[in-house]
Amino acid sequence: MNIRIETDRLVIRPLEMTDETSMFEMDSDPGVHRYLGNHFYTRIEQSRDNIAFIHQQYRENGIGRWAVEEKTTGNFVGWVGFKLIQETINEHVNFIDFGYRLMQKHWNKGYASEAGRAALDYGLNVLGYKDIYAMTDIDNGASRRVLEKLGFHLVEIFPYNGALNWREVNAPTTWYKLGV
Ligand SMILES: CC(C)(COP(=O)(O)OP(=O)(O)OC[C@H]1O[C@@H](n2cnc3c(N)ncnc32)[C@H](O)[C@@H]1OP(=O)(O)O)[C@@H](O)C(=O)NCCC(=O)NCCS
Repeated sequence: MNIRIETDRLVIRPLEMTDETSMFEMDSDPGVHRYLGNHFYTRIEQSRDNIAFIHQQYRENGIGRWAVEEKTTGNFVGWVGFKLIQETINEHVNFIDFGYRLMQKHWNKGYASEAGRAALDYGLNVLGYKDIYAMTDIDNGASRRVLEKLGFHLVEIFPYNGALNWREVNAPTTWYKLGV
């Protein structure tokens, strides 16, 4: 995977094994996992396994979540990007999911919107995606606001079926689609 996207303040690049400490700092924060089923990490091996899994997606699907860092400091901010979901969720299978996750210290600086806008531009214009979907907890106000700012519209609320180890079965979940 060889990606580098620059925005005004951020660089988007592949996730590397050397990001494991930063990934663990982010994913061991219960606040970050508040709307993600509360499965926050307790061991750095979980971050290592997660990065290895993302590398497998890079190899097999040509995409996967990408690291976001600050341009001026090089500090790790979080991740953004696409994932090919091969399980059935809300009657969709083999669809492109868009998402993001940032360290709490970087929230509310406009970073998710800035990185998300650049990633979507790449997805539409370089990767040629036609249909891009996103899901959130119904109460995840910040994430829903970011999606709406980026041009997603709420299609429906559905009960999550537990296909991925993401959140509780039957949790009310938003189903968003990019565009009208
Ligand atoms: C969701 C997340 C990525 C947002 O990142 P961010 O960089 O803070 O987002 P931005 O600053 O670009 O935009 C946030 C917007 O939501 C608004 N917002 C913040 N908290 C909010 C809340 N509780 N309810 C409604 N809107 C809220 C902000 O005011 C801002 O909107 P504005 O630009 O119109 O003022 C970040 O909170 C995060 O990583 N959360 C944990 C992981 C997660 O939930 N990921 C999404 C899974 S679906």
